Amino acid sequence: MAKIKLLDPEAVSKIAAGEVIERPASVVKELVENSIDAGATKILVEVVDGGKRLIRVTDDGSGMDREDASIAFEKHATSKISGACDLDRISTLGFRGEALSSIASVAESVDMVTKARSSGVGVPGTRVRVEGGRVAEVGDAGVPAGTTVVVRGLFGEIPARRKYLKSGRAELARIAEVVTSYAVICHWISFELFSGERTVFKSVRSDSWNDSILRILGREVARNLVSIEAESKFVSVTGSVGRETVTRSSPDWIMTYVNGRLVRSRALIRAVAEGYRTLIPTGRHPVAVVSIRIDPAMVDANVHPAKTQVRFLKEEVVAAMVTDAVRAALMEAGGGAEPPKTAEGPAPTDLFVPEGGTVAPAPGPGPVGPVVSGEVGTGGGSDPGGLVSDLQRTLPLYSGRGRLDLEIEAEPLPGGLRVLGQALCLYIVAEGPGGLVLVDQHAAAERVRYETLTKKYDAGTISQELIVPVTLELSPKEAVLLEEWGPTLEEMGFDVQPFGGNAYAVRAVPAIGVRLERTEAVHDVLRDLFALGRVGTEATAREEILKLLACRGSIKAGHDMGWKEMHDLLRGLFACDNPKTCPHGRPTSVTLSFAELEKIFGRR
Ligand SMILES: Nc1ncnc2c1ncn2[C@@H]1O[C@H](COP(=O)(O)OP(=O)(O)OP(=O)(O)O)[C@@H](O)[C@H]1O
Ligand SMILES: [Mg+2]
Repeated sequence: MAKIKLLDPEAVSKIAAGEVIERPASVVKELVENSIDAGATKILVEVVDGGKRLIRVTDDGSGMDREDASIAFEKHATSKISGACDLDRISTLGFRGEALSSIASVAESVDMVTKARSSGVGVPGTRVRVEGGRVAEVGDAGVPAGTTVVVRGLFGEIPARRKYLKSGRAELARIAEVVTSYAVICHWISFELFSGERTVFKSVRSDSWNDSILRILGREVARNLVSIEAESKFVSVTGSVGRETVTRSSPDWIMTYVNGRLVRSRALIRAVAEGYRTLIPTGRHPVAVVSIRIDPAMVDANVHPAKTQVRFLKEEVVAAMVTDAVRAALMEAGGGAEPPKTAEGPAPTDLFVPEGGTVAPAPGPGPVGPVVSGEVGTGGGSDPGGLVSDLQRTLPLYSGRGRLDLEIEAEPLPGGLRVLGQALCLYIVAEGPGGLVLVDQHAAAERVRYETLTKKYDAGTISQELIVPVTLELSPKEAVLLEEWGPTLEEMGFDVQPFGGNAYAVRAVPAIGVRLERTEAVHDVLRDLFALGRVGTEATAREEILKLLACRGSIKAGHDMGWKEMHDLLRGLFACDNPKTCPHGRPTSVTLSFAELEKIFGRR
């Protein structure tokens, strides 16, 4: 009996409409979601050229009988809801009856073979061929129960859309993200992703998501996960969240699911992060897998055509549950009481260690405050032996612990510049013949680092061998991106070699001026590079990478600089070919001329 029906106009008008197929990964997402909805226990995803040439998804799910298979490609044909009223209680991943028809309309051809699990012995399966969005052929197929959909030539006839696709490997990386994310939440299904060259990812059905998490996030992360749980009348929260020692440079590693659907919910991501508040340094993000089960009447999945967003009826209640659950689990696991530490040492606010230095302690209390020329308050800092007050008579302005570096007096700065101090841990304040000069310390440091790196790159000396190689565990998506980036990474000084399984040994890194000896620091740089995507010509790509590396290795805003450090930075800046702007084009300094100052103060 046919189960698929065409939705009535009222239901159609209420469904969030729009483009759902943007790239190969969108096709994979839709087909995998169909297989999950069909109750599959095995899903095989095969792609050629990152899905641009071919995507084949095979499942052992319920399959379709001839009648269903014949109308599955119609617009608004679905077996999952029967009318507008069902939109309030969606319990399947699909509900719009649009995915197959949208895919068919942007692919050169789609072939589907399917056989209903319920069909009798001897009843043949069905083959449907769709060309240019229209069903071209329906016939018999000798196949086992389940469904296979083959999509060929995505955007083949739409060059304007095709040109927005990235390289095969970059598209494969996105596909890997979709497949691995579903392998976590649907752990009762065995997933395999095969790229036409190799198996990119494989999971084995299991009664918990731990095994998939281990395969995706690696042993180190898996070992440092704690379980979260919370339950109320309408909502249940379960999850595995990283201890505060496991952090990332972006929130991409917070995976959120609502009623089994992979979603990118800002509210949930924020709620998870809130649970870590004060436990992990600013700028770092946790690793987390959080699954919400909620009464379908209290959540709306019909917000966006791609179904990647949801709206909760009582968002603050759900968010608070998540935050509390994360917090409680971290406390119970022994975290939270102490300042965060990394596995390899004390927790820095930045994972990068200045070359030749140690991790800087948090800035101590110092004589920070409004400054009046020639008069500086001693603030709240301790002052053993009254040193500070003595110094302050000769050094008109300074806040920070570098105040004892007196050697700076010996070598004047170029251009007759004289450092007065640091403001807001952000700007170097100086005076020169032209007036009062404010230097943005991060912008300046980036410029210096960028020019140094460019010179090293041009001279072929950018690579720096690590004394002790670092071992990384890459996710399937990252492993694909590593292949994509291979030659560029080598050019940039990286030596990364496979080390068995998902492990990679890093023997050399670019000499970015900070010691990249922590696994996480190296991993962060790679992730940042991967996030860049491969844009533009080789020359622009190289420039972008050097800019990024320069940024990574540079003094950050908020860093309390010593006198020597400030002088070194300014000297470096003056030696640059283009000292006026940072590599991204922001100014490195501004000068307030004496005339302007006089005007401001009404002296003239
Ligand atoms: N792998 C599959 N196994 C069994 N039935 C399937 C499969 N894929 C699609 N179908 C059937 O085809 C119908 C249409 O699929 P399609 O993906 O276009 O829409 P949907 O899943 O109902 O909604 P959405 O557009 O939100 O994905 C489904 O409702 C389902 O009945
Ligand atoms: Mg669907």
